[in-house]
Amino acid sequence: MDLKANNISFSYNKKRQILKDVSLSLNSNQIIGLIGDSGSGKSTLCKILSGHITHYGGEVTIDGKKIPDKDFYPVQLIFQHPEKTMNPKWKMNKVLNESWNPPKDLKDTFGLKDSWLTRWPNELSGGELQRFSILRALNPKTRFIIADEISTMLDAVTQVQIWEALINHCKSNNIGILAVSHDEELLNVLCDDILLFNEINNL
Ligand SMILES: Nc1ncnc2c1ncn2[C@@H]1O[C@H](COP(=O)(O)OP(=O)(O)O)[C@@H](O)[C@H]1O
Ligand SMILES: [Mg+2]
Repeated sequence: MDLKANNISFSYNKKRQILKDVSLSLNSNQIIGLIGDSGSGKSTLCKILSGHITHYGGEVTIDGKKIPDKDFYPVQLIFQHPEKTMNPKWKMNKVLNESWNPPKDLKDTFGLKDSWLTRWPNELSGGELQRFSILRALNPKTRFIIADEISTMLDAVTQVQIWEALINHCKSNNIGILAVSHDEELLNVLCDDILLFNEINNL
């Protein structure tokens, strides 16, 4: 499967264009890195790829077809700040099961403890919450993961553990990953190829 962005252009307002004719291609057996300056529009592009922003120029396709907006969106975005994506009034088992009910061995791979399931989001650390947001995104219908600075706020040990688990799962389930980071060293270790945002954005 191929996820393609074709000539994406976008602005939040008339004052400033953020994206101009951005194109990229990601196969489901690839991990592609995306690196670029803060404020340059990487997260905006991630939201477009994952269907969170819908009014833009150009098109996003999977295997040449527009992505249907009904049912489950096959391109899942994981954010830097997991707490912002969770309902504070839901316990963690509801947060997770809203997407799906992952098998125990997958929960174990991500180091997700059963005792966390009955807690509220504000009773877990950032690293613990991020394990939930990753697992939530790994619904069996997911074909591509857009990982937007997902390990930026984690300590080095947690960062390695989470990336290993995510990459192993995606490799064995043929899920492509776009890994956005300002950490070039990290992307060099993880990725098959690295795109420079300034080079793909034609402003
Ligand atoms: N909802 C929004 N409304 C207006 N401007 C926004 C909005 N979200 C982001 N921006 C602006 O768009 C630019 C690109 O932001 P972003 O895509 O988050 O960049 P990056 O992820 O590369 O740091 C920034 O100048 C940011 O302030
Ligand atoms: Mg960003």
